Amino acid sequence: MSKKIRVGIFGCHKYEKASFSRANENFQFELVWIEPRLTEETQSLVKDFDVVCSFVEDKITSPVLETMKSSGVSLLALRSAGFNHVNLNKAKELNIPVVRVPAYSPQAIAEFTVALLLNISRKIHKSFMRVRDNNFSLEGLTGFNLYKKKIGILGTGQIGAAFCKIMLGFGCEVMAYDLSENNELKELGVAYAPLDQILKESDVISLHLPLNPQTQHILNDQAFKKMKEGVSIINTGRGGLIETKSLVQYLKTGKIRAVALDVYEEEEGIFFEDHSQEIIQDDTLMRLMTFPNVVLTSHQAFLTEEALQEIANTTLGNINDILETGHSANLL
Ligand code: NAI
Repeated sequence: MSKKIRVGIFGCHKYEKASFSRANENFQFELVWIEPRLTEETQSLVKDFDVVCSFVEDKITSPVLETMKSSGVSLLALRSAGFNHVNLNKAKELNIPVVRVPAYSPQAIAEFTVALLLNISRKIHKSFMRVRDNNFSLEGLTGFNLYKKKIGILGTGQIGAAFCKIMLGFGCEVMAYDLSENNELKELGVAYAPLDQILKESDVISLHLPLNPQTQHILNDQAFKKMKEGVSIINTGRGGLIETKSLVQYLKTGKIRAVALDVYEEEEGIFFEDHSQEIIQDDTLMRLMTFPNVVLTSHQAFLTEEALQEIANTTLGNINDILETGHSANLL
């Protein structure tokens, strides 16, 4: 019998196991679940595997890749779309192919964005806590309609486009900013506009851009200054799109009506894990949590059964393609 391919799934979460086990029925790899993140501290663990499977919390630096190479790891399979946690140049130099999951379910993230928007527009987070405390008063729970509101969407790629369509269904006026315009969205009624106009006119601003040097802190002090009094902001893109210290200042002045964040610029080492018995040292994050009009979630927008299954199917499919043919459409 030929030896099974051993795949080390690093930084593995319990919620991923079922989808990977189901996907593996088609491939019969030997999947090994490893809870620690793959970093320079844990890199010696790679020596047992033919393939390393990594998530966004890992840090695949030069030394980690060197260890992979010297241990005979033949492939790095990312179970994410993002790859800014991998030193790709080094992987190329060492001839370690890297595959990823470019898209798994834009609707999962778009729908979660809507959930956050409805939460902050109708203060569901407050009423949930209140009713559980036998407080059935409505005082302080007045929200706002989304119907006819101006929604400014930054980034109309796969996720932004899905979110635009849902917001059109709510009867919102949808404005968008992107380097390239999507004709289908324009035909549906989305109005592309310069960034400044969106900042000035939007009642709600939602971020769906990738994080890169051009988009980092796209919402900074200058941008907050231009916004309407009473604007609401949602970020399910990447934390670094917002200059958080500046956001805190504008929350303190009351200019911003409500904020929902699924991502935070310093989330590494905090998000995805249980820190309930610890003292969190990040004062900006702690300050954000004190505002009654701020809702934070822990990078959860992708987390649906459908998205997890798609991630698992594509990841194991990518591994199989590379091992069998040396090629994959999802090779970086
Ligand atoms: P995408 O690549 O399909 O779309 C990104 C859009 O941003 C493109 O239309 C592109 O033209 C535009 N863009 C890039 N740079 C720009 C710039 N400087 N100015 C204006 N527009 C620019 O990406 P997709 O799949 O829609 O994802 C968007 C982001 O959502 C991802 O980069 C990721 O950061 C985030 N995300 C968050 C998840 C979560 O669980 N919270 C899960 C998956 C993705």
